[in-house]
Amino acid sequence: MTSTAPWWRSAVIYQVYIRSFADGNGDGVGDIAGIRSRLPYLKSLGIDAMWINPWYKSPMADHGYDVADFREIDPRFGTMAEAEALIEEAHQHGIRVIPDIVPNHVSDQHVWFQAALAAGQGSPERDRFVFREGRGAEGAEPPNNWQSCFGGPAWTRLPDGQWYLHLFAPEQPDLNWEHPEVRAEFEDILRFWFHRGVDGFRIDVAHGLVKHPELPDLPPRPDGGAVAAQGGLDHPHWDRDEVHEIFRAWRRVADEFPGNRKFVAEAWAPSPERLARYVREDGLHTAFNFDFLMTSWNAKDLREVIDSSLATLGAVGAPATWVLSNHDVTRHPSRFGRKVVKKWVANELYRPEGPLDFELGTRRARAAALLMLSLPGGAYVYQGEELGLPEVEDLPDEVLQDPCWERSGHTDRGRDGCRVPIPWSGQDAPFGFSPDGATGEPWLPQPALWKDHSVEAQTGDDASMLELYRRALHLRRDLPALGEGDMTWLDAPAGVLAFSREPGFVCVVNLSAEPYRLPEHSSVLLASEPVEDGLLSQDQAVWLAR
Ligand code: NOJ
Repeated sequence: MTSTAPWWRSAVIYQVYIRSFADGNGDGVGDIAGIRSRLPYLKSLGIDAMWINPWYKSPMADHGYDVADFREIDPRFGTMAEAEALIEEAHQHGIRVIPDIVPNHVSDQHVWFQAALAAGQGSPERDRFVFREGRGAEGAEPPNNWQSCFGGPAWTRLPDGQWYLHLFAPEQPDLNWEHPEVRAEFEDILRFWFHRGVDGFRIDVAHGLVKHPELPDLPPRPDGGAVAAQGGLDHPHWDRDEVHEIFRAWRRVADEFPGNRKFVAEAWAPSPERLARYVREDGLHTAFNFDFLMTSWNAKDLREVIDSSLATLGAVGAPATWVLSNHDVTRHPSRFGRKVVKKWVANELYRPEGPLDFELGTRRARAAALLMLSLPGGAYVYQGEELGLPEVEDLPDEVLQDPCWERSGHTDRGRDGCRVPIPWSGQDAPFGFSPDGATGEPWLPQPALWKDHSVEAQTGDDASMLELYRRALHLRRDLPALGEGDMTWLDAPAGVLAFSREPGFVCVVNLSAEPYRLPEHSSVLLASEPVEDGLLSQDQAVWLAR
């Protein structure tokens, strides 16, 4: 990477799921004080920036993705003064800060929605949301057949008879992005936080803001299920062309500020070509590459997704991003630790099949980390991924908090299993997540095996996941070949991914059952497992200097 390229073209961004990262005040919920106390850890890990999940005032119907006030910090997480101090201290540690912005919907407690409820039918206050009359006798049926992503209809009826749209929980009414006040308000919120020094935003549900003006029904699903939820051209509420005009305006706002502020879109697009439309020069800077995350552990599929990502994003001058896990998906050691690794399908219930082979999942996760961190572009690391945490698949029903659980009539256990508070030290819960003498229990119970995964347990152990991530992240900083740039596939048998990057770097990942002899090299820079006799065995990866 040349030194003049903006930082976000090659950054490794660490995702802080705030309520599960570190609890500073001992109430069992992570907070800003906790993040501040762990900045030295993040610095030593070697990341460039952190994305912090929503920290705004919220009734927490969806753990902060239901925002009541974008200009206030939720008291469970701290105060505005603490947020400002965090931004400043992170910068002193050389870490950039990217909060989450949630423009598709607000909380039902947001002053706008409260005003809309009070003002009644046909009022200008209701016009900031999507209110409609119902269908059928006395309007008792929802206005259309759209489904909430959390299960059940995407519409809720008020006592006065009108229905409002919520693509997520009923506590998350969708905003009407045709309304000029909605557009102006969000540009103002961006400026509010840019003035406080944030380096960019992660945009929640970026692909959902614009709805078809007539709100038409979705077609029935081919498998006979309710209705098609995801993707496809001219979908009435996902990935509509008109959304890009909003982001062009946001780009202009970011460009008003010095220091290369950046956006990353959470955009579930139906194809790499459609994803590339979010990241054109006058649009957003980057988007999560969910195609990479969703791919099964298979050399052919991985190679295809790497090629198509680089080709389509490269064609619009955007860097690729690579991501394996986040707070919405099953942690990847648990996805990969199955006999058959299922491909992730957006908006479909994901249930890993068969028993977990955690050793296998860990071995593959180690190889995947070396693959991800050596591909051209930027990468995301979800907290706890560097500790090799598995999904907690056996949380008791009564502790589940994700709205998916209730909304799905207890068929979808939701995302709590990847959100369990992470372990820092010690032999017993709360494993250093909360301070000594804490009054509250961690908001989700931590499994006993967390003791082997803590930062303390892994630090200094060369065979640990944490030390693998540390070495990889530090090498990535030191090696001019890594980060942004080109890659060239090297000849290798099917099942082996081998590529070079200049100057003088080679990555090889063996996903086949056949041991693979390492290509010519001057030294092994890093290996996911020790290399024996110059052979790379199955599910093993290596970084070589040529
Ligand atoms: C995507 C977020 O990542 C997820 O956690 C949230 O539930 C939905 N958007 C709704 O805001």
